[in-house]
Amino acid sequence: MEVIILATPADVCATAAAIVANCVRQKADAVLGLPTGETPKPFYAALIELKLDLRRVTTFNLDEYVGLSEDHPKSFHRYMRDHFLDRAEVGAAHLLDGLVADLALECARYEAAIAAAGGMDLVVLGLGTEGHIGFNEPTSSLSSRTRLKTLTRATLARAGIAAHETRHAITMGISTILGARRCLLIACGAAKAPAVAAMIEGPLTALVPASALQQHPRTTVVVDEAAAQALKRKDYYREVFAGKPAWQRQRDGT
Ligand code: GLP
Repeated sequence: MEVIILATPADVCATAAAIVANCVRQKADAVLGLPTGETPKPFYAALIELKLDLRRVTTFNLDEYVGLSEDHPKSFHRYMRDHFLDRAEVGAAHLLDGLVADLALECARYEAAIAAAGGMDLVVLGLGTEGHIGFNEPTSSLSSRTRLKTLTRATLARAGIAAHETRHAITMGISTILGARRCLLIACGAAKAPAVAAMIEGPLTALVPASALQQHPRTTVVVDEAAAQALKRKDYYREVFAGKPAWQRQRDGT
């Protein structure tokens, strides 16, 4: 796991956009996994600013709520249109459909579509305060594939969704995410500090789903100082990143 600590959320999002841009420049028909949430908003803005040619790029969003219309202000369809898809010419954008009757079939269809696209080259992830990635809440199987998850009241409250609107989401599983050829996780702010520390320096455990990234051969974690504050080995991560060979920086877009 490569850990990059930067001063501000703007730095984190600019670096994440640079990594995605590097991936697309190396492979014009790259397949990307994409997140939602507050954290990635400046990332999408930075990506749009770069004016990349995304016409051959395919994207797959990590998750979607069950039962929220595509225009619902909290739906991830709406989020993606507002923050990215209406402002960039993306070749093919896939999102899970949380409105279909047969959700299990929808999840299977999504897995098949990712496989048919050749798998994800790069998945960009946010981090929940309890260590979730996508909507893989604590105790999610580390072998999970795309499926329905029941969301906790706390998760719904943080998202600003009333319990009568939905209690469920469909999400890529942890194993689906780990199937990407590269993982990039971004986290900002002091509220994420315990989850960041547990993900990087804690044991591999389903209680902290993001700790599964320790198993992936190519994961980059980019955090701001506030989110890094509980890490014990900050100096070590800084030393390693400062000594990263130029050829690796070029390859990785860092
Ligand atoms: C939701 C999303 C996650 C996201 C997390 C953190 O749970 N399903 O993909 O990473 O929220 O969001 P934020 O960046 O708003 O803190």
